[in-house]
Amino acid sequence: MKQTARSWTLAKTDQILQQFAPLVNGQKPARKLKPNEKLKVGVDLGTSSIVLTILDEQDHPLYGAFEYAKVVRDGMVEDYMGAVQVLKRLKMQAETVLNRTLTSACGAIPPGTGENSAKVVANVIEAAEMEVEKIVDEPTAAAKFLHLQTGTVVDVGGGTTGISIFRQHRLVKVVDEPTGGSHMTLVLAGYHHTTVDKAEALKRDPKQDSANFPIIRPVIEKMATITKNVMTTQSAKPVVIVGGASNFKEFVSAFSHTLGCEVQRPIFPQFVTPLGIAMYDK
Ligand SMILES: Nc1ncnc2c1ncn2[C@@H]1O[C@H](COP(=O)(O)OP(=O)(O)OP(=O)(O)O)[C@@H](O)[C@H]1O
Ligand SMILES: [Mg+2]
Repeated sequence: MKQTARSWTLAKTDQILQQFAPLVNGQKPARKLKPNEKLKVGVDLGTSSIVLTILDEQDHPLYGAFEYAKVVRDGMVEDYMGAVQVLKRLKMQAETVLNRTLTSACGAIPPGTGENSAKVVANVIEAAEMEVEKIVDEPTAAAKFLHLQTGTVVDVGGGTTGISIFRQHRLVKVVDEPTGGSHMTLVLAGYHHTTVDKAEALKRDPKQDSANFPIIRPVIEKMATITKNVMTTQSAKPVVIVGGASNFKEFVSAFSHTLGCEVQRPIFPQFVTPLGIAMYDK
């Protein structure tokens, strides 16, 4: 069925995210597994964290494991051994909770980073003793999870903001800008004359959300202006925001105000791409 901006909603996506978030780094899977049940596994090696997602054959979340890690820079794995160690830990954690061995997984790379980058991600997954089913590009994984045929995905990650335009499932335009959550942290650190680590903790503290927001608002307005410029040559609606750095109460309204059109953000936007990656595992 052809999708329109009006007919598309976040309802189903939010329901799955709501089921998935409490499973992350928890002690129990969503349910008891059937013997020999097929598991779908996704590995997201991000600039600020590594996420392991496990779905059942119907794409229902079973378990998730996550660790903050600085092993990727500008979309490329910089600390290979570090990435393998973190992924092995996450895999072991998931295997203990699920009481199953994870045998295969899908990974992802930012679009346009090339075959070499896909190879490195595949090597990390293999070094963690899983067969690589597929390496997909990150926005395509996000769009798959969102069931978005036509629209714009804005992924506000740690190091970069990716703007990806889809038409009938095809990725027709991608722009990756070197601004994201780390940029917000630097702005906060400068404002408070404090260290990056302290500013990062301050930024993530929900109690500080309203105090932080006016300080980081210009970064969000810049992201929205970049998106607006991208959308002057190619535009597709709805506009959906994903990525961990969009986790501010007023993010959507500020972004939408500068962009000049409605934008939507799922709950737990940091898990959209990792869940989409697992959906490609056969
Ligand atoms: N509660 C929060 N409030 C504000 N920012 C947050 C919050 N949680 C995470 N972040 C920020 O989100 C960013 C990480 O987002 P995400 O996990 O989507 O990125 P990534 O996939 O690791 O990075 P990239 O996609 O750039 O490779 C970090 O800058 C982090 O500080
Ligand atoms: Mg990411």
